[in-house]
Amino acid sequence: MIYYFSGTGNTRRLATLLARQLDTEAIDIRQWLLSVEPLPLSFAADTSVGFAFPVYGWGLPLAVEAFLKRLPDCAEGASPHVFALLSCGDDIGHTHHQLRRLLAAKGYRLAAVWSLQMPNTYIALPFFNTDAEEVARKKIETSERALPRIARQVIERQTGVVEVVEGGMPGLKSGMIRRFFNRFLISPRLFHTDHRCIACHRCVRVCPLHNVSVPDAQRGPQWGNTCTFCLACYHVCPEHNILVRPSGTLAKGRSARFLSSK
Ligand SMILES: Cc1cc2nc3c(=O)[nH]c(=O)nc-3n(C[C@H](O)[C@H](O)[C@H](O)COP(=O)(O)O)c2cc1C
Repeated sequence: MIYYFSGTGNTRRLATLLARQLDTEAIDIRQWLLSVEPLPLSFAADTSVGFAFPVYGWGLPLAVEAFLKRLPDCAEGASPHVFALLSCGDDIGHTHHQLRRLLAAKGYRLAAVWSLQMPNTYIALPFFNTDAEEVARKKIETSERALPRIARQVIERQTGVVEVVEGGMPGLKSGMIRRFFNRFLISPRLFHTDHRCIACHRCVRVCPLHNVSVPDAQRGPQWGNTCTFCLACYHVCPEHNILVRPSGTLAKGRSARFLSSK
């Protein structure tokens, strides 16, 4: 099994393709994100278990962090072969260390981890934008080309594999900068609209945390407090009506991957 979270479709694509090559299933964890019940999961020691998550702010999405903290405890010496794919726009900092720590707290040993670059979906800060079409296409091609090799490594149950792009200053990015990012730049209060809502409700349907409602076109989308800042609502709006502070984002791109996969 590969358990995945995907805001805008990139990670879903990778998880689904890899699962196909491993002749297993890719399972969307969003079905469990809002419940407080124990997760209905158990993993036998002789199996391989995969996780596929995007990188948000040089770490795991907050909803994924909460999911991992709810994994069933694993008895000592009974860890399955655990592997992980981290999808990112550029680099992941120390996200793999964070993942390893969260898994270890539950008794699991992360045997192999890869990061794969996909089209960038982060647009909220100045100087951050979606990729040019050619760049996005190249990233998808390169990442998908790596999957058969990764599948082979999983089948061979390889351990000690760390094939990730940390980027420059990974400790700083996943430490102080991430804390600032989570404190000030991940909030549903950063979304606003400019009143061109056509009440199509796509933003409502796409939100993995059921955090968006559209009472009527005049009021437009309204956000609750349960947001992991995946930006799916921003990317899916056909009117480009959803804007994100601090940069406003009116002139920024939308994720073609996401739109084409819908
Ligand atoms: C809030 C947010 C923060 C992000 N932070 C990073 C980052 O730190 N490093 C990076 O390379 N990409 C970053 N990205 C880009 C995503 O990791 C990348 O586009 C990923 O493939 C999106 O996967 P998804 O479509 O499954 O959500 C970020 C995207 C979002 C929405």
